[in-house]
Amino acid sequence: MTNPAISLPDEFVDFLTQNAGRFEEELIQWLRIASISSDSSAKEDVHKAAQWVKNKFEAAGLKTESIPTAGFPLIYAETPLPEPVDGKTPPVALVYGHYDVQPPEPLDLWTSPPFEPVVRDGKIFARGATDDKGQVLTHVLAVCEWIGSGRTLPVQIKFLIEGEEEVGSANLEEHLPRLSETLACDVVVVSDSSQYGPGRPAITCGLRGIATYELFVDGPSHDLHSGSFGGAVMNPAIALCQMLSSMIEPDGRIAVEGFYDDVLPIPEIEREAWKQLGSDDEEFARSVGANALAGEPGYTTDERRWARPSFDINGLTSGHQGEGVKTVLPAKASAKFSHRLVPNQDPIAITQKLRDHFTRHCPTGVKFELKPDHGAGAMLADATSPYTRAAVTAVEAAFGVAPVMIREGGSIPILARFQEVLECDVLLLGWGQNDDAAHSPNEKFSLEDFHRGIHASAALWQEMGRI
Ligand code: BES
Ligand code: MN
Ligand code: MN
Repeated sequence: MTNPAISLPDEFVDFLTQNAGRFEEELIQWLRIASISSDSSAKEDVHKAAQWVKNKFEAAGLKTESIPTAGFPLIYAETPLPEPVDGKTPPVALVYGHYDVQPPEPLDLWTSPPFEPVVRDGKIFARGATDDKGQVLTHVLAVCEWIGSGRTLPVQIKFLIEGEEEVGSANLEEHLPRLSETLACDVVVVSDSSQYGPGRPAITCGLRGIATYELFVDGPSHDLHSGSFGGAVMNPAIALCQMLSSMIEPDGRIAVEGFYDDVLPIPEIEREAWKQLGSDDEEFARSVGANALAGEPGYTTDERRWARPSFDINGLTSGHQGEGVKTVLPAKASAKFSHRLVPNQDPIAITQKLRDHFTRHCPTGVKFELKPDHGAGAMLADATSPYTRAAVTAVEAAFGVAPVMIREGGSIPILARFQEVLECDVLLLGWGQNDDAAHSPNEKFSLEDFHRGIHASAALWQEMGRI
C-alpha cells in the first residue's frame, strides 16, 4: 500500500496499521450518536457529537474551541504554525467537515439499526458512516495521531467541523465574515464526496449548487365533493401538477423562461476527459435499479449529473392519502422541489425566474405561493494548483493508483462562500463510493477506504510541506 516515492516515515505507516482496530472503535463511538440536525428532538445528541470531536482534538493537544451559533456549535481546532523555511511561511490548510447527519427514516428498510454501527463484509453500516463522520474522521485521526506521537507537522492544519451542513449551513455562513481571520488558509480540504468507483479514487474539481423551494397552491376555502363541484371549480392538485409540468419539457430540458441564461458551457477539455472514464449507462441504470436512464439531450450521464442543472420534485402533498377512495376536490396542494445549479447560476436570480414563470402558468381559480429555502452557488476547484498536485501524489500513495479528475453533482453550500471570503483554493478528496447509500437506509462506508483515507491524509500533509 505504501508508495516509496513519498516519504511518510515507515514507523508512522506501521503505527497507523497497528492502530487500525482502535480507529474503527473510535468511528463506531461517534456513529452511535444520533446527531440529526433537522430533528428538534435530537438536539442533545447533536451537541454530544460536537463534544465528541472536540474531546478528540483536546486529547491530542490541539488548540480547540467550540464556537456557539444560533444553532449547533462550530468545532474549531488548530495545530501549531510551523517555523518558516528559508524565510517562507509554510502552507495553511483548513479541513472542513460536518458532524450532523440526515434523518434515518424509513427505519424498517435498515438491516441493522442506523445508530448501532455494525461491520458486514468489510463495510461499516450506520447513518453518517460515509456522510460525513467516517470521512472527516480520517483527517482528524491522521492529524491527532501525528501530533499525539510527538511529531511536528510541516504545515499548519486548522479544522472546522460544523453541525448544520445537512440543513444548509446558514449559521456558519452568518459567522463566516467574523471568522475570516481565524479560518485564514491557503486551501480548504474536504472529504465529503465519493470516488469514481471501487478502486478508482478521484479528486473532485467541482460541485453543483442548489436552490430548494416549496410551492403552495390554494383553491376553494375547504375540501369539496368532487361530484357536486368537480369540473366547475379549479382543482389545486391539478393546478399544481400543471405548474410543475410546465417547468420541464418532455425531453428533460428545463422550460422555465431564462433558466439557462447564465449557465456556462462545460469546457471541452473536461468533456473529453470524462468520456475517457469509461462509464456505462446500462450498468449505471442497473446500479440505481431503474430500467433506463433519462436526461437532457446532448449530454452524457456524467455531464448531466455533474455539470448540467437539474430539476427534481422532492415531495408532493394533496388530497386523500388514506385507505380507499375519497372523492374530494382538495382545498390545497403543495410540492417541495429543488434545482441543482451549475457555475455562474445564481439561486436568487433563479427564484425570480420561477416567480415570473409561475405567474404566467398559474391556472385561473387558484393562487400560488413560492417559498425559497436553501440557496447556494456551484463551485469549481483549481485542478492545477500545487495543493491538487500534492493530493494526487498522496492519494496514489495510499490507494495504490492515481486519482481521476471528476466533478460531482451534490452540494456543500458553504464552499463557494469559503472561496469568496477566505480567497482560498478548495481540495475535494472523497473517500466514499456512489453506492454508499448516503441519505438512504443502510448507509455504509468501506473500512478499507477509511484506512486508506487516513493514510492519504497523512501523506497529503507531508506532500504539502514540500510546496
Ligand atoms: N456530502 C453531501 C454533498 C455531496 C453529495 C457531495 C454527493 C458530493 C456528492 C452533503 O452532506 C449534502 O448532502 N449536501 C446537501 C446540501 C443541502 C441539504 C443544502 C445536498 O447536496 O443535498
Ligand atoms: Mn456531507
Ligand atoms: Mn449529506
